[in-house]
Amino acid sequence: MSREVMSAVIRGARGFVREAEEALQAALEAKGPEQEVGFPGTAFYLPMACALMGVEAKKVKDLEAIVEHCKSLVGMEPTEKMWLPYLGRGLDGGVAALLAQEVTCAIRYLNEEKIEAEHTGFISDAILRELGIQLVDGRMPGFAAILGPAPTNKIAVDTVRELQQRSILAFLLCNTDGRSMYDQLVEEGVEMGWNTYIVPVGRDTTSAIYVLNWAMRGALTFGGHKKGDYESCLRYCRERIFAFGLTFGPIPDDWYAVGAGAIVMGFPVISDHASTPEVRPTGVTTYEALIRETDHSKLVPRAIEVRGVKVKVEEIDIPVAYAAAFEGERVRREDMQTQYGGKYSNAVEFLRSRESDEVEDGRVEVIGPDLDEASPDVSLDLGILIEVAGRKMRPDFEGILERQLHRYLNNAMGVMHIAQRDQLWLRVSKDACEAGFRLKHLGTILHAKFLEEYGGIVDKVQVTVYTEADKVAQLLQEAGPAFDARDARVRGMTDESVDTFYSCTICQSYAPNHVCVITPERLGLCGAYNWLDGQASHEINPTGPNQPIKKGQPIDPKRGEWKGVNDFVYAHSNRATEQFSAYSLMENPMTSCGCFEVIVAILPECNGVIGVSREYQGETPIGMPFSTLAGSVGGGAQTPGFVGVGRLYLSSRKFVSAEGGLPRLVWLPKELKEAIRPQLEARAKEMGFENFVDKIADETIATDSDGVMAFLEKVEHPAFTLDPLM
Ligand code: SF4
Ligand code: NI
Repeated sequence: MSREVMSAVIRGARGFVREAEEALQAALEAKGPEQEVGFPGTAFYLPMACALMGVEAKKVKDLEAIVEHCKSLVGMEPTEKMWLPYLGRGLDGGVAALLAQEVTCAIRYLNEEKIEAEHTGFISDAILRELGIQLVDGRMPGFAAILGPAPTNKIAVDTVRELQQRSILAFLLCNTDGRSMYDQLVEEGVEMGWNTYIVPVGRDTTSAIYVLNWAMRGALTFGGHKKGDYESCLRYCRERIFAFGLTFGPIPDDWYAVGAGAIVMGFPVISDHASTPEVRPTGVTTYEALIRETDHSKLVPRAIEVRGVKVKVEEIDIPVAYAAAFEGERVRREDMQTQYGGKYSNAVEFLRSRESDEVEDGRVEVIGPDLDEASPDVSLDLGILIEVAGRKMRPDFEGILERQLHRYLNNAMGVMHIAQRDQLWLRVSKDACEAGFRLKHLGTILHAKFLEEYGGIVDKVQVTVYTEADKVAQLLQEAGPAFDARDARVRGMTDESVDTFYSCTICQSYAPNHVCVITPERLGLCGAYNWLDGQASHEINPTGPNQPIKKGQPIDPKRGEWKGVNDFVYAHSNRATEQFSAYSLMENPMTSCGCFEVIVAILPECNGVIGVSREYQGETPIGMPFSTLAGSVGGGAQTPGFVGVGRLYLSSRKFVSAEGGLPRLVWLPKELKEAIRPQLEARAKEMGFENFVDKIADETIATDSDGVMAFLEKVEHPAFTLDPLM
């Protein structure tokens, strides 16, 4: 390491050590040595100190040994206690910086200092486990820590886009004169968050520890290395965690110190600044440790090369980027070129199997006006017809293939796909349209992806996209009976008649702890997967997201709890859900990802429940519209009293049957009520209630609980005859 770099590292590290020492002194005085310290959501105390020093710091007094060790590393108090491998003074400085930052941050948490809005601060073990899966299955090849703002907003956007295209997670850190890349991306309207792989962590340099002690926990969690076994932990980071740093502008001393810490972990640093001296010897890092790349267009490729990240870029011939990183991206109203469906117009997607000679592989046809011919203010009708042929294709695979459209189309940058079948809602952004994206590219994507992922059953794919209203109406007519037939196949079955349910974990890409348990009488909450689909999907892809679940020993038949299901859900929810009841809203209900067609929520005043559909935007008697409700119900957690469901489940015999079933239902949006009236009426009749559907309130009757209550009393709604819900 050059003298120049080394001195900068030591100066920077001393600064961090001094800061930690002062914070510690203040905490000792204000809170005392016995005060507990620690970060939220981790089993590893101060993870960096835990891994490198074997220290389990639980109290303020435990921090003293860490600070003393830091001081010895940066020669503030020369001692002989250098028991980390002697890595050169610069690298010792890096270690000191990390340990000292961690102490400072732990004290910040102790003092309840606020984390800046939209920044993560400390990153929990749960996120580590979740992203760990993505790192293991290759969805995410590595991560980048970005320090400072880029010279221009455009370079900032280009840089994160390049990372997103490769599904590399970008952490945003540090500021220069108060400005950080986060600010630049906000100004450019770039969506940030875990879903889009762009994660602001903190605006200062000290926050860098949150990224590095998160990575270090990989060694403790996935590597199984013991705390204090610093050599193995460091080696694990170098060999298994593909991370690197990108710095913008001249590197100040404190960045040098953190950078040295990153280098100790095997993470190289790439600087865009012409005056940065390079540190080329390899050894600590796999390749060079600190290099320069002043051409911004080469920054990301260069980083990937230096870190040895293995990236799989999806080759799909469309004018916008295509990667898993874009799956969770939203297209906001202001940014959209045009939208189809949702509640604004008719839209449908329909996949059907055909004879081989009826399908011309790769043919994509667009009938009607294209994206750029549409005014952004009108929502157009849209029909997407996918016709597939293949010797192994069967009609009962249609539903499963069709459900893939959600992921396939969402992965294109600037395309937002929500819901399915005739509920489809699609938006395309202005940027995508300007880049040349047109409706035919939907077909390009679908053709490529179906052959890539389902090549075993599909040999040919052709796609027709309709935007003319009458053609869309025609497609809707054709598709409707097919959708009904898919739903009907399972209708005669009961949960008791099978000993196996199916799981669905497709949505773990959004909600990592979420598991749908699909039974004959309860379809997946997105409405797209029923039990037969689960079975067929498992047949197509035995190691895929739909696995058989043996019910096993019954625990509580009324609540729908079985030992086998509990075990399965526990094992596949990252151990987040221990108990699961299939038929209860109040006790261990199913978790919800975000795709629910309907949210069922209790209305305690009325001793009943309401259902709110995605399309309904108005007020509800529990005082929250769908969007707010969705925010609190989704994400893969159990929320007693609230559950996301598929529309068809409302008329199932198992609909909240532990709480009395359908007679609990006191309010629905009118549109939903009418759409499923026949099914609801049939089920109510079976239970001995006449004219039940007319006793369900809707928004034309009341949207507040008093109004609903008055109505229910008037019509003598059966909810009042049931046991109290709470
Ligand atoms: Fe699967 Fe459930 Fe997601 Fe539907 S909502 S795709 S069933 S995990
Ligand atoms: Ni989902």
